[in-house]
Amino acid sequence: MHTVESVRRSPHAHRVLTGDRPTGPLHLGHYFGTLQNRIRLQDAGVELFLVIADYQVLTDRDVADRPAEHAENLVLDYLAAGVDPQRATVFTHSSVPALNQLLLPFLSLVSVAELGRNPTVKDEIAHSRQSAVSGLMFTYPVHQAADILFCKADLVPVGQDQLPHLETTRTIARRFNDRYRTGLFPEPEALLSTAPLLPGTDGGKMSKSRGNAIALGATEDETARLIRGATTDADRHIGYDPRNRPGVAGLLQLAALCQDRDPHDVAAEIGSGGAARLKATVTEAVNEHLRPLRRRRAELATDRGHLRAVLAAGSERANAVAKATLDEVRAAMGSL
Ligand code: TRP
Repeated sequence: MHTVESVRRSPHAHRVLTGDRPTGPLHLGHYFGTLQNRIRLQDAGVELFLVIADYQVLTDRDVADRPAEHAENLVLDYLAAGVDPQRATVFTHSSVPALNQLLLPFLSLVSVAELGRNPTVKDEIAHSRQSAVSGLMFTYPVHQAADILFCKADLVPVGQDQLPHLETTRTIARRFNDRYRTGLFPEPEALLSTAPLLPGTDGGKMSKSRGNAIALGATEDETARLIRGATTDADRHIGYDPRNRPGVAGLLQLAALCQDRDPHDVAAEIGSGGAARLKATVTEAVNEHLRPLRRRRAELATDRGHLRAVLAAGSERANAVAKATLDEVRAAMGSL
């Protein structure tokens, strides 16, 4: 049966795991790219695990900047967007030591050559802020496999860049099962987002480090300022033409996503209003769409203790699940 159909018919037969690195606030690219989809899965009745991949921050830099603070803020963004801590398990990687214990047996299942060929690892090495490639960067797909397999997730919502890691995870699951003659691990499937990649306000990929991202928690004024500074062009007639007018098209797409409309319709409504009218429309669309989320976020932000409690409860649950899996792994390996 097709995955989407199976999720619809028997949500409880599935378990989803996905996650984020705690390097900064989530923005609209995350929201339309994956966050909305996670919440849809949760609300459909699928069990959701969210790993805050704090150790993974060290793959491409020497020191993690305020990881605990960023982790709490991720929880804040998740909850504001609709993650329900009663149903979902939100935890940091570092609070579940069994994840790191799974890393050793998993490392024994992949070759150094295979790790060296992983295109996402190669790409991160090329863009790394470090002068030397650390062992942690090299083993990135393997600790990610531990993140996924510890809870035997069968569905992993990710972006295109994470597909090589999913392949490694599937390989590890298969080889473990073969080598130790067990059916312990399912081979998880990637759930690719169907939303088109949302460009940032400069037409490039939306990313915090490029200063072109609208954070979920930004104020309405900050949102207006970012959109006012967005790259457009001199043609007063607004049309949706992603190839020739990427800046204008990105803004139209953003308004369209917020209003659940077609970008051509948004363009037609603006007509010859020029960039100023376009930006005013987009600002209003974004601020209006995010208003309820931001209201919840502001409320949740007043109680840091609650955010920490959500993480503590998630960590407790993740530890119990990870311990059970580790016991099974050790039993399969002859108590190793
Ligand atoms: N590597 C992912 C990223 O950089 C984050 C991540 C960590 C993840 N563990 C995961 C994603 C497990 C999916 C499944 O965005």
